[in-house]
Amino acid sequence: MTAARPFFTLRWRAPAGLEILDQRELPRTERYVTLHDARETADAIRSLAIRGAPAIGCAAAYGIALEAALHAGAERPAFDAALERAFAVLAASRPTAVNLFWALDRMRRVLTDHIDTSPTELADALRTEAHRIVEEDVAANVRMGEYGAKLVPDGASVLTHCNAGALATAGHGTALGVVRSAVASGKRVHVYADETRPVLQGARLTAWELRRDGIPVTVLPDGASGHLMRTRRIDLVVVGADRVAANGDVANKIGTYNLAVLAHRHGVPFYVACPRSTFDVGLDDGSAIPIEERSPSEVTGFGSEVWTPANVDVFNPAFDVTPAELVTAIITEDGVIERPDRDRVEAMLAG
Ligand code: MRU
Repeated sequence: MTAARPFFTLRWRAPAGLEILDQRELPRTERYVTLHDARETADAIRSLAIRGAPAIGCAAAYGIALEAALHAGAERPAFDAALERAFAVLAASRPTAVNLFWALDRMRRVLTDHIDTSPTELADALRTEAHRIVEEDVAANVRMGEYGAKLVPDGASVLTHCNAGALATAGHGTALGVVRSAVASGKRVHVYADETRPVLQGARLTAWELRRDGIPVTVLPDGASGHLMRTRRIDLVVVGADRVAANGDVANKIGTYNLAVLAHRHGVPFYVACPRSTFDVGLDDGSAIPIEERSPSEVTGFGSEVWTPANVDVFNPAFDVTPAELVTAIITEDGVIERPDRDRVEAMLAG
């Protein structure tokens, strides 16, 4: 078997472009597109050309850097006005993944720390900060992977949902980072990937990136996970997260809550792997997490094919909230929060 070509989720293209792997086209086509400003970046986030909480944050940071580069020759008031529009358009792209807002806050801090700086220098500082966010994300995922790998037994069957892999981050992945690190440490792991209706991040993306790494993967319809847990040995479930509230409640791809309930019923450990940038301690619990609702067209058919009766009512939430009591542990880059609750989350984040 010839080794698959390495891929990247996003990368800066000098002097001022953001190259992303267009995930809407995977696994059929591996096509990279270049984004030139904040609006194009926001459109790519909204349309899921780039998706996954940490990757959305990284893309948004670069979206600001792109806009800064475009206006670097302007006077400071015009530069500031252009950047305000960029922050607004990016913040409106998707509501649930807090990494988006976390990254925009980091970029804004660069602006507020450079009140008397020229637009040219500021554009450099903003690009440097975006690079830093990306580098930190990869490093966090690798550390998370090391903590998480210890929880994976040799010969494990691991069930996951959606795509929390290299494609959802700047590299390595969160939930799939745990799998990758376990495999790198010499353990044998078989991944079961929920297909993840309606956008099929599991069937299309998780299966694609694991196959490229030579990690055994079996795709199943979402509705089969209960039967899977009853009839085959599943050692653990590991998923990513889009936002974790102060009490440890976890928002992730729609269907994650179902999986957590099933895991509880079958005595299977349910792990969440996410970086500190996914915690939103400003929210008391998961009920305050904004849940994105997406277009009915994702549910009624695919492309030009429509399989529901015309004008049928559709409910299409992109995320759900799993209560902390169903989470065995949250794996972060700074350690594992066992049986997460308000105090343990606070203690980990303070450390
Ligand atoms: O709608 P998506 O594809 O952006 O949803 C992605 C997820 O729900 C992931 O599990 C989550 O963002 C964690 S990615 C490391």
